[in-house]
Amino acid sequence: MQILHTISETRAFVRQARARGQVIGLVPTMGYLHEGHLELMRRAKDQCDIVIASIFVNPTQFGPNEDFGRYPRELERDAEMAGSVGVTAIFNPPVEEMYPPGYCTYVDVERITEKLCGVSRPGHFRGVATVVTKLFNIVQPDYAFFGQKDAQQALVIKRMTRDLNLDLEVVIVPTVREHDGLAMSSRNLYLEPDQRRAALVLSRGLERAKQALKEGERNAAEIRQLVINMIQDEPLAAIDYVELYAYPDLEPLERIDGLTLLALAVTIGRTRLIDNAILEV
Ligand code: PAF
Repeated sequence: MQILHTISETRAFVRQARARGQVIGLVPTMGYLHEGHLELMRRAKDQCDIVIASIFVNPTQFGPNEDFGRYPRELERDAEMAGSVGVTAIFNPPVEEMYPPGYCTYVDVERITEKLCGVSRPGHFRGVATVVTKLFNIVQPDYAFFGQKDAQQALVIKRMTRDLNLDLEVVIVPTVREHDGLAMSSRNLYLEPDQRRAALVLSRGLERAKQALKEGERNAAEIRQLVINMIQDEPLAAIDYVELYAYPDLEPLERIDGLTLLALAVTIGRTRLIDNAILEV
């Protein structure tokens, strides 16, 4: 497996693959890989001849008081894991390669970014949309793979790809969970043992909503309140948001009668975790 650090060597690598007629898959990540990332890479490997995983902790998607500085960076470990599932190359640029001095161009996706994480993390999706556009331009993949765990991010990238006529298919892969239901995330690393236990309140909240739906509840506000009550019972948890929106347009709704995104953001200690479920009647 090759590790590529510059845009020019990545372009040359991709050019050679294209000349051989190979189908190219891209798995964008910020590293500190876990089973969720490996699942994206396996899916990519199934569908593509070569798989490029990017590992880049993107500064433009972090707010000033967020964890950019302490986000875990372990390239050697990540390269070994990516290699074990057949990734062909890793693109791991330094920050100056992606954002040289004088950089001033950004991609803004409107409307669907104006809720959920877009409110709690101003500028976050502008940073995501910008770096993902750059990665798409550098690698020019046929397919790019993202996790459903970041449901709003996945929708933003799909919308951006469509709106800007980007010539690739965005594939969304289901969330991978720990044996007890906690959604896999690089940020789970920050959790102390008591916080790790408390973090289960997110997946339990989603299950509570599904159960209420099964029992016939259709009122979105009622379901939201059940989830809020459950999370508030956990003393280590602080709710950022619990929201239900029609899926995939993220329009507000009162009754659940079609696909509905139930999205949660909860802070446990200093760690902000997100999770979601798509409810279906
Ligand atoms: O989901 C992530 O890890 C990041 O937001 C992404 C898509 C790699 C962009 O930096």
